[in-house]
Amino acid sequence: MLKTQQDTGITMAKLPIIIDTDPGQDDALAILLALASPEFEVLGITAVAGNVPLALTEKNARKICELAGKPETKVFAGAVRPMVRSLVTAEHVHGRTGLDGPVLPEPTMPLQSQYGVDFIIETLMNRPAGTVTLCTLGPLTNLALAIVKEPRIASRIKRIVAMGGGFFEGGNITPAAEFNIYVDPHAARICLSSDIPFTLIPLDCTHQALTSAKRVARFRAMKNKSGPASADLLEFFERFDEQKYGTDGGPLHDPCVMAWLLRPELFTSREVNVAVECESDLTMGMTVVDWWRVTDRKPNATVCRGINAEGFFDLLSERIETLA
Ligand code: RIB
Ligand code: CA
Repeated sequence: MLKTQQDTGITMAKLPIIIDTDPGQDDALAILLALASPEFEVLGITAVAGNVPLALTEKNARKICELAGKPETKVFAGAVRPMVRSLVTAEHVHGRTGLDGPVLPEPTMPLQSQYGVDFIIETLMNRPAGTVTLCTLGPLTNLALAIVKEPRIASRIKRIVAMGGGFFEGGNITPAAEFNIYVDPHAARICLSSDIPFTLIPLDCTHQALTSAKRVARFRAMKNKSGPASADLLEFFERFDEQKYGTDGGPLHDPCVMAWLLRPELFTSREVNVAVECESDLTMGMTVVDWWRVTDRKPNATVCRGINAEGFFDLLSERIETLA
């Protein structure tokens, strides 16, 4: 667990992170959680095409930083499309803007001029090896492009913590594939085969973290801006999955990435091999997780399966309540 200053009474080193994201209402909650957590040093946010096109994901990332009262955060635009396949978006889930729900003002903070992929490379080359964690909330295009352009960064990444994939739970954009991996399976394969410490948080885990009416009400009742705006984001976002799964609330995927870094004890996991289907039309983007270790494929990821959902929402609510 990342101890904070009050836990230890001494100044604790912050964990430097880069957030790679395709906001996306659940991405928004993840970014708010990160910006509200003193354990992190958010070095930058790199936007990628995913839930909606890049022009919207980069703008949405800036809107969220301003909602949090953190307009000094550096936001970069990264890849406009996946490495090989054509872009598939998810307006049917996230709405036309990608951030439907609350009315958020157009951002006034600047978009950084540097290409997001180059920001990832420059940061990893300039910071001490093994100190920067990549938190990926969308397709892995930016990170894979960075690894291909500058292979030396692979050995310098402390860890990749990625929301993506699914195994016993299946897929959500096809019966076999989860959206982030499906959009750019080649990028996921590159990241998983680069010998980088990797934590995967798949649908098997995130589908247990449901935004029930009781949990959304906690955000609604907060006296700041970020709380009620989070409730608006979740009430829009959850409707699609509530209708699909017939549940009270929908799965809150991306904030699980930050929560795993803050409170890993909220999760259960296993070191196993994860491979990605990149050829079959039927199962494109499927994460083939060797959970029972029936192959001789080397474990390449810490794959989460369980989550203490109540503890997760307690953490999320406590932190977002501290924001503007
Ligand atoms: O499948 C869920 C993932 O796809 C989440 O990251 C959501 O934001 C979308 O990007
Ligand atoms: Ca996302």
